Amino acid sequence: MYIDSLKLINYRNYDNLHVEFNKDINLIVGKNGQGKTNIVESLTLMSIGKSFRSSKDKEIIKFGKDNLYCGCTFLKNGLGKKIEVMVTKDKKGIKVNGVSIKSIQELLGTLNVVVFSPEDLKLVKDGPKERRGFIDREISQIMPRYYSNLTMYNKTINQRNKVLKSNKIDHNLLDVYDEHLSLYGSEIYSTRMKFIEKLSKISNKLHNSLTSNSENMSIIYKSQINITEDDTVDTIKDKMDVKLKDSREHDIFYRSTKIGPHRDDLSIFVNDIDVRLYGSQGQQRTVSISLKLSEIELIKQELGDYPVLILDDVFSELDQTRQRMLVEKLGDIQMFVTSADPLHKNILGKKNYTIFNIEEGKIVDIENGGK
Ligand SMILES: Nc1ncnc2c1ncn2[C@@H]1O[C@H](COP(=O)(O)OP(=O)(O)OP(=O)(O)O)[C@@H](O)[C@H]1O
Ligand SMILES: [Mg+2]
Repeated sequence: MYIDSLKLINYRNYDNLHVEFNKDINLIVGKNGQGKTNIVESLTLMSIGKSFRSSKDKEIIKFGKDNLYCGCTFLKNGLGKKIEVMVTKDKKGIKVNGVSIKSIQELLGTLNVVVFSPEDLKLVKDGPKERRGFIDREISQIMPRYYSNLTMYNKTINQRNKVLKSNKIDHNLLDVYDEHLSLYGSEIYSTRMKFIEKLSKISNKLHNSLTSNSENMSIIYKSQINITEDDTVDTIKDKMDVKLKDSREHDIFYRSTKIGPHRDDLSIFVNDIDVRLYGSQGQQRTVSISLKLSEIELIKQELGDYPVLILDDVFSELDQTRQRMLVEKLGDIQMFVTSADPLHKNILGKKNYTIFNIEEGKIVDIENGGK
């Protein structure tokens, strides 16, 4: 899959931008605060329906303006497609191939983008919430149904917690919420388990090659509900029913729901050692890279086409060996690399590339190179 053009109107510091991209490598360079990340952010807006760095849509509208437009054309499995997003102060509209969609669920999986930013290098060191966010985002891209289960699950958790916080506990209402939780929760568990199993295999391969075969890595899904490989959605639901019932008094005491997918985590091992607790900084970073990049292969396996890869400010954080490895290993995948430092062109090997120089929300220079 690759994006061939982008149009931005009143998008952050861009008035009006139309740009055609390189099928291979796009280097977006410029000093700090010029608008490099804004360009790649707009691509994520069209991929998942929201920015990867702002929680409020209206923050993306150019200061002093009332609405923004962004649109891109791309090729997926050989077919040309178009996504457009319009944001006003209180509304957002999204069109796929000219047709308005009703929910984000219809958008997910259309334009597959993997974003790798310096925050991802901390994935291993961060708290469970960040790791859960990582797996939830990744699975949602591949399986929009997962996203709707997750939305319903989180909504029910909030409702249940409200009951737990009230002065008079309504046990009948809790029964209803418990039923919903185990219904959506068992789907979430089951999908996560399958996803982690695949992710673990792919990331181990990548990790092997990143460490010249000196390290093996594996990922284990950690939950208070004891789930094994033999469990099905139905048996997981039964286990969750029991666990929720058992922990009700405890939850009433703590006034919140303490078990379920919203409390789970991943354990990551390198040569059988928990890398979060005992790994060196370098190991933790390499594991984070392996994890993040395995998404690319996973999307290809599940959807039949490679996603687009965005490396926002992450290239300069890596040493030259890893930079070159990254470009070489990734093969035929379209990349968007932002950087405030000029990059060494020898890292790009024989690939085609275009360098876009950005100044104050404008492309001031374009340079093509490569094969
Ligand atoms: N809603 C907005 N309207 C107008 N300008 C905005 C808006 N939001 C952010 N900006 C401007 O966009 C610029 C930041 O853009 P961006 O984050 O893309 O920079 P960058 O080139 O990636 O910088 P860095 O190298 O520091 O990461 C800032 O100058 C900021 O003032
Ligand atoms: Mg930036």
